[in-house]
Amino acid sequence: MSDSAFHYVDGVLHAEGVSAASLAEQFGTPLYVYSRDALTRAYHAYADACAGRRATVHVAVKANSNLAVLNVFARMGAGFDIVSSGELARVLAGGGKAENTVFSGVGKSAAEMREALEAGVKCFNVESIPELHALNEVAKSLGKKAPVSLRVNPDVDAKTHPYISTGLKSNKFGVAFSDARATYAQAHAMPNLDVVGIDCHIGSQITEISPYLDAVDKLLELVAQIESDGMSIRHVDVGGGLGITYDDETPPDIGVFVKTVLDHIETSGHGQREVYFEPGRSLVGNAGVLLTRVEFLKPGEEKNFAIVDAAMNDLARPAMYEAFHRIVPVVKRDAKAHKYDVVGPVCESGDWLGRDRELAVEPGDLLAICSAGAYGFVMSSNYNTRPRAAEIMVDGERARLVREREEVKQLFAGESILPD
Ligand code: LLP
Repeated sequence: MSDSAFHYVDGVLHAEGVSAASLAEQFGTPLYVYSRDALTRAYHAYADACAGRRATVHVAVKANSNLAVLNVFARMGAGFDIVSSGELARVLAGGGKAENTVFSGVGKSAAEMREALEAGVKCFNVESIPELHALNEVAKSLGKKAPVSLRVNPDVDAKTHPYISTGLKSNKFGVAFSDARATYAQAHAMPNLDVVGIDCHIGSQITEISPYLDAVDKLLELVAQIESDGMSIRHVDVGGGLGITYDDETPPDIGVFVKTVLDHIETSGHGQREVYFEPGRSLVGNAGVLLTRVEFLKPGEEKNFAIVDAAMNDLARPAMYEAFHRIVPVVKRDAKAHKYDVVGPVCESGDWLGRDRELAVEPGDLLAICSAGAYGFVMSSNYNTRPRAAEIMVDGERARLVREREEVKQLFAGESILPD
């Protein structure tokens, strides 16, 4: 396994000092399990590389918004990157501060803008001219000035999956590079906006540094133009996107990545500006696994299926992106392995978690789906009226339930039938 927080002791998978088998026994399956130590180490890799530099880390809440996870980061002084007022509420409930929070997203509503302004977020990453107008209006109605940076689309190829590549001309995100200077001028002219920075986010699961440096070069080229137009750009937000190892990917080390980007900005003559990072996946992805139990083994003519109790509603990434997650036994068996498609009980052929996996398993065995800490629980749904999984945080020898398993009756508690 790529993260030592999850390791085998005498053939039994452990999360830090706790047996995954005992967690499944105590809390049931499917079960998300996070390691506080893995979260802490990933955050430190960013924070230590930023120490002594003008650079700050904003945890992308969308990757994992469990309050306990956010709180682990908040206690270490993290900032946050949000994309909804719901995420803002989670940040505040998890001990984070609005003044350390940036608000991203292509479609903020007026109500969300109002809530964020009242809370006092650090910056709005604005993605279009209509959004600038809307924010200016909301700020005016509150008698405030909204701090803004424009998310500029640098049109660089992040060399990742098309669904999670966001910095190309063809994507819905950001202001086109060729329009950015004029858009900044418009923002500057709006009385209730305060232009403070520039922002980009080129994609996710990026395993090379060069696309970031290309994006930074383009942003800095713009910064020079914008400043010659009379605005001052205090910060450069390079977005998130650094990849992790799911299988055999070799992303750069976090510290090397941060240092390379900061050095590049400094040697380009922009060292006076503050640099923001917005990592999600690289902080939480390998800090979590999803535990599931094998219900049935179903041999087929072409394929063998291991039908497990987790499904695409619990972990959508394989179905959505054909994403690969390593699948390992919780208790190793000394038996011959066979090839299985690991699939869930949902009524869709797309409901698979892993294909063609060599596993020595029997019904009732537990499996761990690895690297599930990012875009796992947060993307889960109640499809097929399946209650969402419980979440556990392990801290050394202790395990704490940080989200209760949903109950079926909760799922339709807000519904009603016609009176006649
Ligand atoms: N900042 C912004 C503005 C973003 O849109 C994102 C992710 C991040 C930061 C964090 O990126 P990260 O460091 O996690 O790559 N559901 C997909 C990933 C979608 C990412 C969307 N934006 C998946 O499961 O692969």
